[in-house]
Amino acid sequence: MTITTSSLDVRDEGKCLKESLSKMLDPEFYTNEKWFERELQAIHFSAWHFVCLSTSIENPGSFVTRRFLERSVIVVRGEDGIIRAFLNTCRHRGAPLTSDRCGNNTYFRCPFHKWSYDTFGDLKSAPGLGGSVKRSELSKLRLNLVPVQCEVVAGLVFINLNEENEMPLKSYLGSYIDNVAKPHQVQRMHCVQEKSYTLTTNWKLYIEVDMETLHTNFIHSHSIGSQPVTPLEHGRNWFGVYHQNSLSPALFPEKRSLAFSTPHGVTGEAAEGTHFCVILPGFFIVTAPEVMWWIQKTPISATRTSVNVGYAFHDETLARSDFKEVAPHYFERLDQVILEDDQICEYQLEGLRNRVQGHYTPAEPVAAYFSELIQKRLLEVGNE
Ligand code: FES
Ligand SMILES: [Fe+2]
Repeated sequence: MTITTSSLDVRDEGKCLKESLSKMLDPEFYTNEKWFERELQAIHFSAWHFVCLSTSIENPGSFVTRRFLERSVIVVRGEDGIIRAFLNTCRHRGAPLTSDRCGNNTYFRCPFHKWSYDTFGDLKSAPGLGGSVKRSELSKLRLNLVPVQCEVVAGLVFINLNEENEMPLKSYLGSYIDNVAKPHQVQRMHCVQEKSYTLTTNWKLYIEVDMETLHTNFIHSHSIGSQPVTPLEHGRNWFGVYHQNSLSPALFPEKRSLAFSTPHGVTGEAAEGTHFCVILPGFFIVTAPEVMWWIQKTPISATRTSVNVGYAFHDETLARSDFKEVAPHYFERLDQVILEDDQICEYQLEGLRNRVQGHYTPAEPVAAYFSELIQKRLLEVGNE
C-alpha cells in the first residue's frame, strides 16, 4: 500500500483527536451491583450528606426525616435550639418512630406500643414496663434513640452515618464555605419548594450531566440555550463551574427580565454569576445571585437513584410584595430543566447497559475530573 502524505496527515489528525478524548469509567461502574457495593463503602458511608436548610427546621420540635443508604434518619431541632439527628427506629421492637417527611413534635411517639422520646432522643415513657417506672429509672435503661452525627455550616444541615467519622463538616466542606456559601449568603436561604422521587439511572451519570454544558445546547436548547462556564478551583470534597451572567439563568431566556434583584450582602462574583457545585458524593447545589436550588442524588442501587430537589430564596426576596407573582416563573423553568436532565440520565443508562466504553471530549473537563476522582477513591480503599 502506498501511503500518501495527505493520508498520513489524516491519520495523525485522527490520533490527535483520539488522544484528546478521555475515557469514562468502565461501564460496569454504572451498572454492576458488585462495584456499587464497593463504591458504597469507599465513597458514600464515609461522607457527609446534605439533609435540609436549617431554616426548614426553624422552631424547637420541627423535624425532617430522610433516607440515606437504606437508613431512615430523623433530624430535629431540640427544645434547646440545637439540631440533632437520630436513627428513625424505636428502641422497643424496632418500628420507625414516624413515617412523616416533616413535622413538629415535642415527643416522638412510636405508633406500635407508644414508647416515646423527647427532642433530645431520650426515652420518656415505655408502656409494658409497668406504670410505676419513674422517668429517672428509664434513663438507666440506656434505650435512648441512636444518635447520628449531625452538623450545620452556613445554614446547611448535614449528617454522617459513619460512627467512626472524625472529620468535622467544616473541614469536609473546606473552601466551599468561604468561596461560595458565604458570598451567596446561603445561611439566609429558605426552601420554598421541595420534591423527591426515584430515577432508573446511576447517580454518577447525573453528576456528570450537572458538570458539563456540552449537552445544554441540545437537551436544554429552549430552556437554557448556550451557557458558557469556567471550572472553579476545587477542594478535596467539592468542585464546580462558574457562569458569569447579567441575567438570571434560573428563568427561561425570554423571561429573564423578570428576575428578582440581587439581595443586599450578595456581592462580588456571587452577585455577577452562578456557581454550579458538587459537594461529594451527590449534592449538586446551584447558587445564583437571587436564587438557589439543589438536586441531591443518593444511590439506592447501581441503577436506581433517589433524587431530592429544592428551590430556595433569601429572606429579603421572600418578603417582596411580588414574590408570589414572580416565583412561579422560576419554578416553571427549574422544573423543566430538571425534567430534561432526569430523562437524559435514564436514557443514557439504557445504552451503557450494553457495556460499551464511553468517552469525554475536551469540552467536558469537569465531568472527566469527577470520574477520575471516583476511580481514585475506589483504588485508595482497594489498596488499604
Ligand atoms: S416498637 Fe416502638 S413501641 Fe413497640
Ligand atoms: Fe442539564
